[in-house]
Amino acid sequence: MKILGIESSCDETAASVYADGNILSNIIASQAVHQKFGGVVPELASRAHHKSITATVEQALSEARTGLGDLDGIAVARGPGLMGSLLVGLSFAKGLAVSNHIPLIGVNHIDAHMYANFIEHKEAYPFVALIVSGGHTRLVYTEKIFQHKLLGKTRDDAAGEAFDKIGKILNLPYPAGPVVDKLSRDGDGSFHQFPRSMIHKGLDFSFSGLKTSVLYYIQEKGETYVQHNLNDICASISEAITDVLVEKLKKAAEKTGVHHILIAGGVSANSMLRQKVMSYAKESGLNLMIPSIQYCTDNAAMIAVTGALKMRENIIDDLTLKPFARIEKGC
Ligand code: KG4
Ligand code: ZN
Repeated sequence: MKILGIESSCDETAASVYADGNILSNIIASQAVHQKFGGVVPELASRAHHKSITATVEQALSEARTGLGDLDGIAVARGPGLMGSLLVGLSFAKGLAVSNHIPLIGVNHIDAHMYANFIEHKEAYPFVALIVSGGHTRLVYTEKIFQHKLLGKTRDDAAGEAFDKIGKILNLPYPAGPVVDKLSRDGDGSFHQFPRSMIHKGLDFSFSGLKTSVLYYIQEKGETYVQHNLNDICASISEAITDVLVEKLKKAAEKTGVHHILIAGGVSANSMLRQKVMSYAKESGLNLMIPSIQYCTDNAAMIAVTGALKMRENIIDDLTLKPFARIEKGC
């Protein structure tokens, strides 16, 4: 089964071809235009998607040595995300599908982050997933394929958003998550004890208190002190965020009694988080699935593989397929 995946939900225009367990191409056109604004500007994102989508899809097909006639399906991210951005990918996918008589498959971007794990790992159910991205922090129990139960979510900022907003306070470039990660590697995480909000309270998350606490800390200590101890401060922040994430994943796994756990989304690229979940899985004898770095942050391979799984389960859409901005409105 050969599937073209298209992703345009935020600031990455991406296309990928997946065939029978293999990613044949995985093209990502990132939008540098947002950097000077310190965050994604929705209107600029839609325009940039519009500019690059044709070339991105063409490159994905050509690298995969695939013609449109070889495709069994076109999978496209339909939400959650920025409405204008989603519409570019969705309209493009619909056009390709209808003009070439190829089935269309709408994919939930958050589900796709989870199922990206099945590019490199054997499918295994039931599992608990910790999905940590720029827009979402969710703990999900998946009993069977596409049967998800939400166990917990963030009440304010997402984990990636926390990294990005705290990074902005520290004058780091956007997106700050990878930069904080890199600086943390040469730092001492016990340098300062930042708060671990709600760590022992249910399965929901809260990260806005941490952001405020970092802001006060910087105001109190002053710029020079912060610059001098940047690695240690970043490591202490990373410790606080990852401690909460791992503790909640642990609680969710214990509560559900699963043997399989996975992490997914942009923040699952974080080296400290990866290390902590690996030791937890080892200690508790659980099967841990972690995507390789290229499949953590937004990509179209995850859309293509989820599209293939949906096709296998006979879940196919038609031209009435609509985008959705918020996850609550999604499937
Ligand atoms: O999944 P993703 O690419 O996009 C969304 O669906 O939101 O996640 C992007 C988020 C950003 O907040 C970015 O800072 C964060 O993932 N991120 C990281 C790392 N790499 C990406 N956060 C911490 N450590 C990283 N290595
Ligand atoms: Zn994402």
